[in-house]
Amino acid sequence: MADRYLNFTGTAPGRFLTRRLGLPQPAPLRRWSAEHPTLEGELLHLTAGDSIHTPALAEILARTGLKEVTATDARRPAAVVLDATALSDTPGLAQVHAALHPVVRQVADNGRIVVIGAPVSPSDHHQAAAQQALEGFVRSLGKELGKGRTATLIRIRSASAAESPLRFLLSPRSAYVSGQVIEIGDAEPAPCDWDRPLAGRTALVTGAARGIGEAVAEVLARDGAHVVVLDVPSAQGELVRVADRLGGTALPLDITKDDAGERIAAAVSAGGGLDVLIHNAGITRDRKLANMAADRWDPVLDVNLTSVLRTTDALLSSGTLKRGGSVVATASIAGIAGNVGQTNYAASKAGIIGLVRALAPRAFAEYGVTVNAVAPGFIETKMTAAVPLLIREAGRRMNSLAQGGLPVDVAETTAWLCGGASGGVNGQVIRVCGQSLLGA
Ligand SMILES: NC(=O)c1ccc[n+]([C@@H]2O[C@H](COP(=O)([O-])OP(=O)(O)OC[C@H]3O[C@@H](n4cnc5c(N)ncnc54)[C@H](O)[C@@H]3O)[C@@H](O)[C@H]2O)c1
Repeated sequence: MADRYLNFTGTAPGRFLTRRLGLPQPAPLRRWSAEHPTLEGELLHLTAGDSIHTPALAEILARTGLKEVTATDARRPAAVVLDATALSDTPGLAQVHAALHPVVRQVADNGRIVVIGAPVSPSDHHQAAAQQALEGFVRSLGKELGKGRTATLIRIRSASAAESPLRFLLSPRSAYVSGQVIEIGDAEPAPCDWDRPLAGRTALVTGAARGIGEAVAEVLARDGAHVVVLDVPSAQGELVRVADRLGGTALPLDITKDDAGERIAAAVSAGGGLDVLIHNAGITRDRKLANMAADRWDPVLDVNLTSVLRTTDALLSSGTLKRGGSVVATASIAGIAGNVGQTNYAASKAGIIGLVRALAPRAFAEYGVTVNAVAPGFIETKMTAAVPLLIREAGRRMNSLAQGGLPVDVAETTAWLCGGASGGVNGQVIRVCGQSLLGA
């Protein structure tokens, strides 16, 4: 459903009226397109203190294709990267202010500010105070920026593992990701063709006949993957159309079946197994708990959570998921913030977060597979189009970008997590929510 308010504020009278009334000012987001695959513009690389990462980060940033400028030459930087990894005490925070205060106003519309921090020390409380302070700083900055601009904090252990997150965050692919804090491990990234990072990989996407799952399959195919799209047998017609359009394979199957893992393994065995497993299928059966019979509780937990555990276990233990592979499960901000009428759904999505955090280190150590989650906020789909108008409007506006996301936004983040170069990103829950105020 079209966001009429966003279109209205794009007109001169609409802008005038909504500004006078103090209403939200959403800016059209610039997303990835084949014609405009990068941010295009100036890049400002700033440092707070003496960072050991400066030379390596400079090399990585030079490869983004953005034109690096100095603070004095910067006119309208499309991207500002502040390396604050060296911050070890709170007086050092003044350097964060000194670096960003003079340039923040100049950042171009749809621009990016990425702050790079270090892991928060469990034993040095001065370093921990300074590094944790960056989190509050970035989350507040994300709320202030407006005009489609975003702010993100990544915590790195090595510069080389930062290339994949930096390329993603400094690109139009991350248009609806803001206010996030992402921990990057030190796993050495696999060599990568940045234009087709999933070339030669086989990816299975559940719930791919429509909505977000269809968009995920489309982006994974764009990035070079052979996609196997799975959905319930009653959606076979749409599923086959998606598979044909993407040159993929349709697998009609109810994911809650006890033998779903074995059926998937059999379907991908001829191609040598699976590199990417995307758990996207999900359902809602909303009612307040007092009115919720077991026939609304059980299927939601079964589709959204139990079947994710069952199939992941089966595909890992059978060796179907190959070393170097990735699992991405779909949580929701409802699983972080909770929602009236969604005790079942929020429980299932919070369960996904628990599963991801606990399985990630073990799956990486034992199978060489990363496990992450995306947590979408308000995404414009048939599901949210059916939400009553006032609640829909609140959902759309109550985030820093003052608009709903598109299925492709979830798809871009999912695809980024699956690339071989993202091996350092493990056990993370990435919210694709425009920095929703829910669960903030
Ligand atoms: N749309 C949003 O705003 C939003 C927000 C947060 C999270 N999510 C999550 O994103 C995912 C996709 O959401 P969507 O809006 O595209 O939903 P959707 O209803 O449009 O699509 C879900 C797909 O999953 C399939 N599916 C359901 N049960 C299945 C089963 N047992 N086996 C196989 N396939 C099954 C459906 O047939 C459907 O094609 C879900 O996990 C949802 O909970 C969506």
